Order: sequence, then C-alpha cells, then structure tokens
Amino acid sequence: MSKHQLSIGTEQNEKDLQLDQLLAEYRTQKGALIPVLQKAQDIYGYLPENALQKIAQELKIPLSKIYGVVTFYAQFHLKPRGKYVIRVCQGTACHVRGGSAIVQEIQDLLQIKDGETTPDLKFTLESVACLGACGLAPVMMINDDTHGRLTKDAVAKILAQYE
Ligand code: FES
Repeated sequence: MSKHQLSIGTEQNEKDLQLDQLLAEYRTQKGALIPVLQKAQDIYGYLPENALQKIAQELKIPLSKIYGVVTFYAQFHLKPRGKYVIRVCQGTACHVRGGSAIVQEIQDLLQIKDGETTPDLKFTLESVACLGACGLAPVMMINDDTHGRLTKDAVAKILAQYE
C-alpha cells in the first residue's frame, strides 16, 4: 500500500470515528435524523452509503426512510463533491445575458456535465436559479466567491485561480 493510500485510509478512519462520536451523542435524542445527516455530511463532505447504513442502525431508522429524506432535501449529497463548487446562475436575467454559454464553456473546459464532479474532486458544477445578484448577470459563484459580468472568454482564467 502506498503512503498516499495509507494517509487516505487514516483519514477515513478518523472520519468514521467522528461519526461514531456523533451517533453516540445523538443516539437517544428524538428528531435527530436531520442534524445527524447534516453533521455527517460535514464530516465526509457528502453522505457515503456506509455512513447512512451506520446511521440507520444506530438511530434505528429504516435505511429506506433515510434515503427518502436525503433525496428529498437538496442540501444532502450522495456523491463526493469537489473542493470547489461552481454554481452557475441560470435565472432569467443571467439566461438572457448568456448564462447558458457560460455553463457550456465550463462543461467544455472541465469535461463534466451539470451536476457532476471532476475525477480529481476539484470542481463540482451545478446550475442554479437566481443567485440574487442579477445586476451582475451573468453570474457564477465558486464556493463563496461571486464572479459577475462573465464572458465566455473570462471563464478559463477564473477557474485557473482555484488550485
Ligand atoms: S438571475 Fe442570475 S443572479 Fe439573478
């Protein structure tokens, strides 16, 4: 096993331990499911299947019910997400000003589709409705940074700022 794999393994164990602690804390509480899912997602960055199985077991809630909750709320993610989440606005103002060309450019540059994550887990692309900065249309956010008045040509340079 390489050093890299070893460190990933250790990191994974630490996360599993954190989940155990979390479940120990919430096991007896009523209405714990949503906060536990939120905190578990903070630990892993998403909700891996084995974590959901453990949550089901410890909180004594059927796994199918947990999947129902996770798929209902947009805040929960069943797949790993990138270090940087790009949210490109497809609201009316942005759409009118060329928002779809921006999404297309990002898809071409990163070779992923809307909702997908690059294989190196660097970027996740999501198109969203109005980001509340219509005056800056077309707009995208990368994590907490807002980038407005975008042009197709500016996109590559902006992405390159994120390492
Ligand atoms: S429509 Fe894009 S920010 Fe409002």
